[in-house]
Amino acid sequence: MTGGARGEDPQAAADLDDPARLEALDPTDFLGAVERLPEQVREGWRLGAAQRHLPPGEGIRGVAVLGMGGSGISGDVCRAVVGPRSPVVIEAVKGYELPGWAGPDALVLAVSYSGNTEETLAAFEQACERGARVVAVAGGGRLAELARRRGVPLVEVPGGLMPRAALGYLAMPILAVCERLGLWGSGAAVAEAAELLDQRVEECGRKSAIGVNPAKQLALRLLGRVPVVYGSEGLAGVAAYRWKCQFNENAKVPAFWNAVPELDHNEVMGWPPGSPLGPGFAAVVLRHAGEHARVATRIDATAEMVEPGVGFVEQAWARGASPLARLLDLACLGDFTSTYLGLARGIDPAPIRAIERLKEAIERPR
Ligand code: PA5
Repeated sequence: MTGGARGEDPQAAADLDDPARLEALDPTDFLGAVERLPEQVREGWRLGAAQRHLPPGEGIRGVAVLGMGGSGISGDVCRAVVGPRSPVVIEAVKGYELPGWAGPDALVLAVSYSGNTEETLAAFEQACERGARVVAVAGGGRLAELARRRGVPLVEVPGGLMPRAALGYLAMPILAVCERLGLWGSGAAVAEAAELLDQRVEECGRKSAIGVNPAKQLALRLLGRVPVVYGSEGLAGVAAYRWKCQFNENAKVPAFWNAVPELDHNEVMGWPPGSPLGPGFAAVVLRHAGEHARVATRIDATAEMVEPGVGFVEQAWARGASPLARLLDLACLGDFTSTYLGLARGIDPAPIRAIERLKEAIERPR
């Protein structure tokens, strides 16, 4: 099976429940890293909370989280979880340059799993030069080296994974630092998130058969279609973006995302009923109980309007009470779904050759 067929495929379904076939397709056990997200969340929080030498929290006026791709998503998580409850602005910086406001009263959290991402390193150097209050999170590499050399507090997380499979190690330390500096009160959110993730893994892990496994089922429905993932602005929008990136990297398919309410003002025009393009796409709509009442009404109306114009629409609801638990719960479901979609296509979910080739193509001496 190489991904040509559309919709459920009996052979792909059998493969997803066959441990030997999964092992053959996934020699580095990428799926195992997805299954260990709850442990990572607990450990990532512990590592962040254990950093004893943080800059002062008083007078922080903004937080910039630096990072690209699988590391950069931690900045989006921080923005969605801490932002609405914090008096200071939180910005995810995905590029070479710090925003103009980030100076000595800014907290700059530089996140790179490899530690060698040039955009993150450039913005990190800029933050140090501007006298910002910098903390680094890395699995090693130059970022860890530079942080040590410059006396910047470093949360060193376990290495050896693909960055996108290290979400718990990357996002939780920065949330812990925000909590320690008085920017966020986590309450019971971390424990709740980890417990709900345990449940998701139980339900969506490899041992859970296709008949009762929502991630395997959705992956099979998506076979041969381009996923379009929608969420509401805020935590579900971040989850939708994570799903899109995970479909790209784990399943090696094009995928798109957008957020309500903005998409109601433009993208909704792209799915007219009967268009010959529509059936090749499928919309996955990420929901949670904390949606703004008008946004919830909009999502219902949007899903109804889009449905005749695409292959199918499926809604997935977050569990949990806290925004952190809801976001991670949705992300975990997407991590499983995208990994199973790759496996159902007969593809090893781990390698990311195009990303590596691009890094090599622009390599220059430093
Ligand atoms: O998923 C990936 O591997 C990429 O998106 C990387 O995360 C990205 O290229 C940045 O690398 P790093 O996370 O090591 O900073």
